[in-house]
Amino acid sequence: MTLLIASASEYPAVAASAIAVAIEAAITAGGRCTLALAGGGTPAPVYQSLARHATIRWSAVDIFFGDERAVPPDDPASNFRMARESLLDRIAVSAECVHRMPADRRDRAAAAAEYDALLPASLDVLLLGMGEDGHTASLFPHSVALAELKRRVLAVTGTKAPVERLTITPPVIAAARAIFVLVRGSAKAAMVSRVIAGRDDPQHLPVQLARHATWLLDDDAAAALHLPGG
Ligand code: 6PG
Repeated sequence: MTLLIASASEYPAVAASAIAVAIEAAITAGGRCTLALAGGGTPAPVYQSLARHATIRWSAVDIFFGDERAVPPDDPASNFRMARESLLDRIAVSAECVHRMPADRRDRAAAAAEYDALLPASLDVLLLGMGEDGHTASLFPHSVALAELKRRVLAVTGTKAPVERLTITPPVIAAARAIFVLVRGSAKAAMVSRVIAGRDDPQHLPVQLARHATWLLDDDAAAALHLPGG
């Protein structure tokens, strides 16, 4: 596990720089990078900063999503819309390299199976967020999806509105080569401390599936961590 902590004002740039390094490393190593984006509100300023990284060869990046709400892509609650406005509309990436998660399809089980087939065996860079309840992607505490060992995308009913969603499952997190968990704000400080320093209990705290990731925190989110010299 790596902790990268920045002031609230520097957070977007610091987080974006760490992610940019991982994207470029994947391209250098394998010719292309498969990148899965996190949803919610935290990533938007980070994605805006990432879009300003002139060194990223976006033509060599395939973009996926870790989860999506069952809303149209232009809905204010859509993770795709957030990513489009903060990143995709600002970079030179071709439409066929952006794989929206079609959670708005009537048959979400079929949509999940189709998206599963799209995913690479192992994502090069996986971006995740964390809810105040310790959920990540749309893997919520005690969800049956946490027990999934084979299927990589499932239709779920979460506890954060909009509740109907598609989400990646634990095998996708386990297989990812580089994972970044993006967390900002004092409201999440207690949960950050519990997840990082507490007992391992991913059924109750699903973001612990990414416990050994690189945690991108602002000072407020890291405030309850008892760090050496802190
Ligand atoms: C979603 C997200 C979810 C999010 C956390 C944090 O679709 O809701 O994927 O996992 O990352 O809930 O959300 P905020 O960044 O808005 O706090």
